[in-house]
Amino acid sequence: MKGIILAGGRGTRLNPLTLSLSKQLLPVYDKPMVYYPLSMLMLAGVREILVISTPEAMPAFQALLGDGRQWGLEFSYKIQDEPRGLADAFIVGREFVGGKPVCLILGDNIFFGHGLGEQLKAAAGLERGAVVFAYEVKDPERYGVVEFDKDMRAVNIEEKPARPRSHYAVPGIYFYDGKVSEIAAAMKPSARGELEITDLNREYLKRRELRVEIIGRGVAWLDAGTHESLLQAANFVQAVQDRQGLMIACPEEIAYHQGYIGRDDLVRLAKNAPNAYGEYLRRIAEE
Ligand code: DAU
Repeated sequence: MKGIILAGGRGTRLNPLTLSLSKQLLPVYDKPMVYYPLSMLMLAGVREILVISTPEAMPAFQALLGDGRQWGLEFSYKIQDEPRGLADAFIVGREFVGGKPVCLILGDNIFFGHGLGEQLKAAAGLERGAVVFAYEVKDPERYGVVEFDKDMRAVNIEEKPARPRSHYAVPGIYFYDGKVSEIAAAMKPSARGELEITDLNREYLKRRELRVEIIGRGVAWLDAGTHESLLQAANFVQAVQDRQGLMIACPEEIAYHQGYIGRDDLVRLAKNAPNAYGEYLRRIAEE
């Protein structure tokens, strides 16, 4: 399975922070935001990753992430010149997708919790249809919302409904089969002028090819798109890391544990960071 990190958009809700910096490069406590969704792809076993961003932000993403070899990954980059919607990722990335299954993750979505890696790995085994998730939230009207029947079968998905039919929001991680680019290319923009991921999911639902899996309350799903949620996410990461002495979303550590890089590689990466981050990597290498 391939992966796409969508890290474009204007980030207007975070102005002036995002006037000269991409939202997905802002710090979430001790790491750039994009490390968090990247780590999710790595935990799902995805190694071939396309980063999509704006023309202005692209050089900074390339400087941060490089070609991915340092973490045993393979990054490529593609510019989205206008924020035409989340489903546009599959048109911009059509060549990369190449008719193969692909996972899309939004660059501002942060997940943390027990069992998540296994759930994502299972979803990454998908060959036909699509898998999306549902997560209970207090304010479903801000998201794509799934309606279930009494047997918890998804019957409808609506984008930011004024009157949500459930509290189940669809988080920004989606798995699709190889026909996703073709379906996206045939879509029409919504009233707000975007190719909506919710319309794409509705198309899979209509074809009876959409599986909606619940992500339980043992998992934290945070988005970091407003000043409040960005601070909350940073505080969350700080509190958990400080308690456990373990990092959330450290790509070097995940690469090592997944066997993408060896101990010597990790020690070398530790030397590049002469601070607490580097000390952490050294500790992981010695364990
Ligand atoms: O976070 C999950 C939600 O993400 C879903 O529940 C919704 O169904 C989905 O539409 C989306 O809602 P948002 O209102 O959060 O979408 P937003 O327009 O903020 O875009 C999400 C991220 O994707 C944002 O960080 C910017 C980036 N983006 C967005 C668009 C429209 C792009 O890179 N390119 C784009 O064209």
